[in-house]
Amino acid sequence: SLGRASANGSDLVKTVKEMRIAEAREKNANSSQRNGRSDDPMASMDRDARNGAGGRELPNLAAQASWRREMAKQNQSLGRRTNLSIKEQRESLPVYKFRDKFLEAIKVNQLLVVVGETGSGKTTQLTQYLAEAGFANKGMIGCTQPRRVAAISVAKRVAEEVGCQVGEEVGYNVRFDDTSSPATRIKYMTDGMLQREILIDPLVSRYSVIMLDEAHERTVATDVLFGLLLKTIKKRSDLKIIITSATLDAEKFSSFFKNCPIFMIPGRTYPVEINFAKDPVSDYVEECLNTIQEIHLTQPPGDILVFLTGQEEIDTSSEILHERMKKLPANVPELIILPVYAALPSEMQSLIFDPAPPGKRKVVLATNIAETSITIDHIYYVIDSGFVKQNVYDHKLGMDKLIVTPISQASAKQRAGRAGRTGPGKCFRLYTEAAYQTEMLPTSIPEIQRQNLSMTILMLKAMGIEDVLGFPFMDPPARDNMLASLEELYQLAALDDEGLLTKHGRDMTQFPIETPSLSKALLASSEPNFGCSDEMLTIIAMVSEAQNVFHRPREKQKQADEKKVKFHDQNGDHLTLLNVYRGWRESNSSRAWCFENFIQFRVMKRAEDIRNQLIRIMKRLRRAIVSCGMRTDLVREALCAGMFRNAARRERDTQGQGKHYKTVMESTVVYMHPSSALFGKSPEYVVYHTLMMTDKEWMNVATTIDPKWLREAAPTLYKIVTGNEMSKRKKTERIAPLHNKFEGPDDWRLSAQRKQGRG
Ligand code: CDP
Ligand code: MG
Repeated sequence: SLGRASANGSDLVKTVKEMRIAEAREKNANSSQRNGRSDDPMASMDRDARNGAGGRELPNLAAQASWRREMAKQNQSLGRRTNLSIKEQRESLPVYKFRDKFLEAIKVNQLLVVVGETGSGKTTQLTQYLAEAGFANKGMIGCTQPRRVAAISVAKRVAEEVGCQVGEEVGYNVRFDDTSSPATRIKYMTDGMLQREILIDPLVSRYSVIMLDEAHERTVATDVLFGLLLKTIKKRSDLKIIITSATLDAEKFSSFFKNCPIFMIPGRTYPVEINFAKDPVSDYVEECLNTIQEIHLTQPPGDILVFLTGQEEIDTSSEILHERMKKLPANVPELIILPVYAALPSEMQSLIFDPAPPGKRKVVLATNIAETSITIDHIYYVIDSGFVKQNVYDHKLGMDKLIVTPISQASAKQRAGRAGRTGPGKCFRLYTEAAYQTEMLPTSIPEIQRQNLSMTILMLKAMGIEDVLGFPFMDPPARDNMLASLEELYQLAALDDEGLLTKHGRDMTQFPIETPSLSKALLASSEPNFGCSDEMLTIIAMVSEAQNVFHRPREKQKQADEKKVKFHDQNGDHLTLLNVYRGWRESNSSRAWCFENFIQFRVMKRAEDIRNQLIRIMKRLRRAIVSCGMRTDLVREALCAGMFRNAARRERDTQGQGKHYKTVMESTVVYMHPSSALFGKSPEYVVYHTLMMTDKEWMNVATTIDPKWLREAAPTLYKIVTGNEMSKRKKTERIAPLHNKFEGPDDWRLSAQRKQGRG
């Protein structure tokens, strides 16, 4: 049976361990008491926090009542979190002892690198210290986060600590969601949003301090900000820049930022026992589930953090885990299962930070986001799958794809470290020690060297940076990679044949849409020959919300699939998404309708919100919002106008049934995803939203097209091959990329290169 082993001494071990844990907890509590200060030379913000609503002017009684309710709710959730007061919690963090030293350091230095273990309080405290010391009086304190969820959750936490509501003194700004207001003094934002702000205001004149947080993550946007802010400080001697990192890349950051000083916050960590898998694991998800169960049944109290790779995997795992827990004997303590991923709805976010009630255990199933971006306290056990889902730029394909890859050794160490924050912990690695030594890179490759750079280069061009090849990148991306992006932007008419930004290109930068190709499709759709921007706005809003709109619970898959088929458009998934949105709007945006149709209500609301924001930008750019009615072929054609690079053609396999596809650009074999409305239908030509790599390369969200639209969309890229210049093989392809296949190097490319001052 699965009951606990008892008479073999393991109980004794447990007790000793439990004692040690209790000891450690006590020690923490004591040290925080010892650190408590009575004098408090802080500015108004902290006073507000202590006095609650005191002194705050509120417009009317109703607002006051709702404000009090909100405060009560927040206090309640805090009460559950820990029995320390906010002040005590803040003062128990490792960074607190260095508050004054830090403030001194930033007063005398314009640039400062701050290094400290994850959870030491860098993100939540440093901004407050700065505000308390008066740095927020002349401008905002901006703090960038590589991840959206982190920006939101940290802003909420800091608002709680400051004693305001999010959007008042503390706010956040992430793509499609800006809560900052004129009152905001501490602003958390994604690095991408600050990049957008710099586009409008290169001197970032609204800020007095910018903290580039989680710099070790080395996202493209953070890397670009490094270079941009290096330029900005030349013109703004009063601007302070702080670069924070959880790891020891500090030297590298310091040497890039003019050899600025490094401020170290000594960590508070406990030993973590590392357990490797003895044999290679064939199914890490299954192994994760087994390990969770084993820990829960045999190990002393303490929460578990599990690193998986993506939302779907996490949702499925938690469903299976729920089932398995139900089958355990009633005397087994409850296991609270919580998912954490980038698209996590905000209602769920506060739950993950709450400790498990006494006698229960919490297991958090997380993506890489819990590696450094967010800290969950009371974790004693870490299960590390050894994998991460990453966006990888495929040089051959010339585009990004999502792929599950092994993590780096640095990541593995960081993950294990999460178990040693509250007391001594254990890490279970679901890979062998040999795999760790031989198959994992020492550190991860910066994103800028493995991603499509089109959006980044377009932004740089829009900032007036002509020589993008000469931009001061900390780790410059491959030159070919940048040239490929310049070429793509040229095909999208964002750059002219001299490599200069066009009006069209400038308009494309206005949309917070992930890829220039989608912005282009949107702009095209508003032009008279397509006249379908109303539809395109919906489609882009639906694909921009990263989550799957179709709900497919394990026990009701068949019903869910039957409902889904009703929305299917014979021409593919983009139009299917359009049908879903239309159906929902006809139901008056009803929640019941979503429930009935296995549609995620939350995703629909988000899509509606995104759509409205895009409409505002369209209006500002004086772009027409027009509907094509039933002429959805125009929508597909307009899609092609931007997405022409993501085209694939069906291959005939030996049995004569077209089962797989080849991309038109580089002839890579790709497959129609089973969730597609086109699965099993196999139209000859399609464009797809993204490629997803698991066991195969899957096309995600695909739509049938007429190949001549490709040629019309990108005459410099594609041409219709005429009979006499075709080889036998090429005859079957009919449409082929123009560059370097049939002709020499493109002329424009050379001229663009010359324009870069390098060619
Ligand atoms: O940035 P760093 O990793 O150094 O630490 P932090 O994010 O400032 O976290 C400091 C403390 O605040 C940790 O104990 C977190 O658990 C807590 N925190 C929280 O309770 N809720 C959040 N949304 C973020 C942090
Ligand atoms: Mg942090």
